[in-house]
Amino acid sequence: MGTGNTNSSIADSNANSMNRPPEFSIIPEPVSLLKTNGFFTLPEEVIILASPEMKLVVDYLKEKLTVPTGKFVSEFTNTQAAATIRLVLNHNPNAALGNEGYQLSVTSGVITIKANQTAGLFYGVQTLLQLFPKEIESKELISGIKWKIPCVEIMDYPRVAWRGLMFDVARHFFTKQEVKQYIDAMVRYKFNLLHLHLTDDEGWRLEIKGLPKLTEVGAWNVKKVGEFGNFSTPTADEPRTYGGFYTQDDIRELVKYAKDRFVDILPEIDVPGHSLAAIVSYPDLSCTPGAEAYRVRSGEKIMDWSKGPPPFALVDNTLCPANEKVYSFLDSVITQVAALFPFEYIHMGGDEAPINYWQKSDAIKALMQKEGLKDMHQVQGYFEKRVQKIVESKGKKFMGWDEILNGNMSPSAAVMSWRSAAYGIQASREKHEVVMSPQNMTYLDLMQADPVTEARVYSSIRLGKAYEFDPIPAGADPKYIKGGQANLWTEQVYNIRQAEYMTWPRGYAIAESVWSPKEKKNWTNFTGKVEQHFQRMDIAETKYSPGIYDPVLKVSRSADRQVMVELSTELDGLDIYYSFDNSTPDRFYPKYTEKLVVPKDASQMRLITYKGKQIMGRLMTVSVDDLNKRAGRR
Ligand code: ACM
Repeated sequence: MGTGNTNSSIADSNANSMNRPPEFSIIPEPVSLLKTNGFFTLPEEVIILASPEMKLVVDYLKEKLTVPTGKFVSEFTNTQAAATIRLVLNHNPNAALGNEGYQLSVTSGVITIKANQTAGLFYGVQTLLQLFPKEIESKELISGIKWKIPCVEIMDYPRVAWRGLMFDVARHFFTKQEVKQYIDAMVRYKFNLLHLHLTDDEGWRLEIKGLPKLTEVGAWNVKKVGEFGNFSTPTADEPRTYGGFYTQDDIRELVKYAKDRFVDILPEIDVPGHSLAAIVSYPDLSCTPGAEAYRVRSGEKIMDWSKGPPPFALVDNTLCPANEKVYSFLDSVITQVAALFPFEYIHMGGDEAPINYWQKSDAIKALMQKEGLKDMHQVQGYFEKRVQKIVESKGKKFMGWDEILNGNMSPSAAVMSWRSAAYGIQASREKHEVVMSPQNMTYLDLMQADPVTEARVYSSIRLGKAYEFDPIPAGADPKYIKGGQANLWTEQVYNIRQAEYMTWPRGYAIAESVWSPKEKKNWTNFTGKVEQHFQRMDIAETKYSPGIYDPVLKVSRSADRQVMVELSTELDGLDIYYSFDNSTPDRFYPKYTEKLVVPKDASQMRLITYKGKQIMGRLMTVSVDDLNKRAGRR
């Protein structure tokens, strides 16, 4: 994907041209950046001046510089050495920088990164790498590049402390190596938290000693592809060999890999709903007779959302709040999770628990009577409070999705707000710690362009919407907002390339929302940077969605029942060309200028975007049947 601007003299003659890349393309935008005179050029021999406690940062930087440039990079602790890059931990902490901030100074002779903590040095290194030519992203030696960067003075620190991405490794399993690849990309954008959604109806992904069936049975289903959610029910002879899990050694390795890159891993065990894999492994965790016949879900329909929330469950995927065995099961699980993951929180889910089986259960009725519980919210509240106690007994803090607020939890329960920002706002006012991840802006499983080009799910979030994310929305008590994150659910994500595609560029928008000062966010500047980062990701061979180059369709019906199509683009400066004659449009076809009326006998509309003479978007073919559906009643 090019920027469409290979002729710098044209760009230079038109300073306001939207084709002109920004002078600096740092994502997330730093707090302050001052360009000074001159350039720094990487010498043949690069000397990093550092002290032993900076080893992680030095090793990372050495590899990043050596691989693409082939330069000889060495490190010294002797301050007399003629350093190329100086890493400095402040003796007297600079209060403005906090734990993760840094100052980066580039002069023609030396690069200096100063921070209070090594995390700050690491983020300074990320910014430094983004100043280099894009070829710095190469995983192999590239010759003929002048490794030159402009002189700057940057001061930078994050807006919020919790800057997360959630990766659902339960709906589809992703290997340890793939999770590392995901971490490698996220740290480039200064994310510091990876939330692993480890259990769900489709798989239990974590070895638990003493509960072997969780991974012998619960980690495996039948491989199916297509539109997840409506797959046929697997037959008895279809092999249940699709899936996988992490051994406890794998988890220790991942935790270390993440920590070496200043990322904490938040484990999530999603209960009491979303628990079919656990129930299939140990059916007596269910309130429902006959759970022995259940199987780990392979994408067949198990919920009816038409009357929800809460959803109406077609199979009972809940742990039974009235069963003491559930709490001893959870004690075993949480004991081991607490030992494996050093992070101070454990996320215990709590979302989307159906109640229709609980309503039929004698055990639940008896529990309600015994405990004076008036409704199913209170039943789940009873469960959550007991789980919170178990989590806290292991020395960890309890976190759950915002449905836990229905259960009258004490403020010591931290809340991850997903149904909308309103829940997080309310929770912060009630003095719960809150992480914001509203589904209308931060859900990475949703499509980012038109359904004709995307793996189809129920809704879309384009880049512009993701960029509106504010982790500290008006009305919230900022003291209780820990930060924000974006969530990659993987029902419809079958492989790591698609996981990357769904994450980027929306991950850039989320990164800038959680790191940069609110007043520094600027859509026009941001999209210019996005195009530059696409080029970097091309070189790094990280996949991303080019959906910002595709047209946005608004379909309606005129008073005389004709289908009308209004087209726009998220990016400025794109032209849209179209056809209704089934041929492939190019820039010699009609250019879109005003609302189109679909010709009476047309069978499809085809669209393509250009920037000047360069194709930018993907060829979109939309059937007139589809347009008719989008337009609503004839
Ligand atoms: C969720 O999206 N069910 C937390």
